[in-house]
Amino acid sequence: MNRITAAITAVGGYVPDYVLSNAVLETMVATSAEWIETRTGIKERRILKGEGLGTSDMAVKAIEELLKKRGITALDIDMIIVGTVTPDLVFPSTSNIICDKIGAKKAWGFDLAAACSSFLFALSTGAQFIETGKCKKVIVVGADKMSAIVDYSDRSTCIIFGDGAGAVLLEPNSEGFGILDAMLHVDGSGRKYLHQKAGGSVKPPTHATVDAKEHYIYQDGQAVFKAAVVGMAEVSAKIMEKNNLRSEDVAWLVPHQANKRIIDATASRMGLQSEKVMINIQKYGNTTAATLPLCLWEYEKQLKKGDNIILSTFGAGFTWGAIYLRWGQNSE
Ligand code: UT7
Repeated sequence: MNRITAAITAVGGYVPDYVLSNAVLETMVATSAEWIETRTGIKERRILKGEGLGTSDMAVKAIEELLKKRGITALDIDMIIVGTVTPDLVFPSTSNIICDKIGAKKAWGFDLAAACSSFLFALSTGAQFIETGKCKKVIVVGADKMSAIVDYSDRSTCIIFGDGAGAVLLEPNSEGFGILDAMLHVDGSGRKYLHQKAGGSVKPPTHATVDAKEHYIYQDGQAVFKAAVVGMAEVSAKIMEKNNLRSEDVAWLVPHQANKRIIDATASRMGLQSEKVMINIQKYGNTTAATLPLCLWEYEKQLKKGDNIILSTFGAGFTWGAIYLRWGQNSE
């Protein structure tokens, strides 16, 4: 009997309408559009506006698109795993809230927090529920409303992040398509370089923590940059090596969109030309857990059955890793 693998059979995405351009950021903090673009590759990002709207609302839109494309309903779904660092609430999980909002009454699920690697880790986790035969239809979401935790007076972080959501559907495949390998890593000693200081159990939120802006993202950009360049390039090269893939065998790299320079270093280490690299950082910035599914969403029409695809991330934690998958269908 052939091995059962988890293939991506549909992709959905959503970005909010409001565009925050580099030109507008110039009026908010001491920066220049030129600095932002040359140092990061970002020209603009999307921001979710509106009272009472959170990460789940963007995820719901991405999932609704996915269900429509696949011609199924929420009742067909067994499980929803949500990669995010900006859950609607600390508890219950955003997965619970999404199941309720879309009417996925037969599904169960949970949130998975691995910062920018959340979607990659969730994809690997979801795939295993398909491989074991426990589930037939698993939705994996990467969604973040980063504007909820960004300090728009801190020029070193507010220029980077944006809001968005992407989702993929995993289904069993017995013809060798889908997720074929994953290499996932964590190094908790890196947590000092990128985190949110207050709001958790170590430092519950108080007036003092809010006054000190400790509910926002703290990042030592250079330290993260250095670790990311090495980590993302290494793991991407290693997963190719492990699976006997030469650069000409790889059709696409789907890299986490944190900084164009990190993406270029990774592609160069893999020996890939820029035409094979999915990029949308210029439009959306760093949407944390949403970067990978938003890339798949935008490039889906260009993907062909049999394409070897490497997904690769690096983020807070530190967390990093790569997935090797073979695309299972031609787009209509
Ligand atoms: O997705 C999660 C993982 N996160 C990442 O992968 C992010 C990794 N880090 C980065 O992408 C980059 O480190 C940043 C984009 C955050 C910063 O770029 P950089 O080239 O590393 O800049 P830097 O922090 O080394 O700062 C260089 C200079 C400093 O000025 P001085 O000290 O040389 O006078 C900063 O104060 O640039 C200054 N600077 C800015 N100037 C204009 C920092 N932010 C800005 C800004 N506009 N927005």
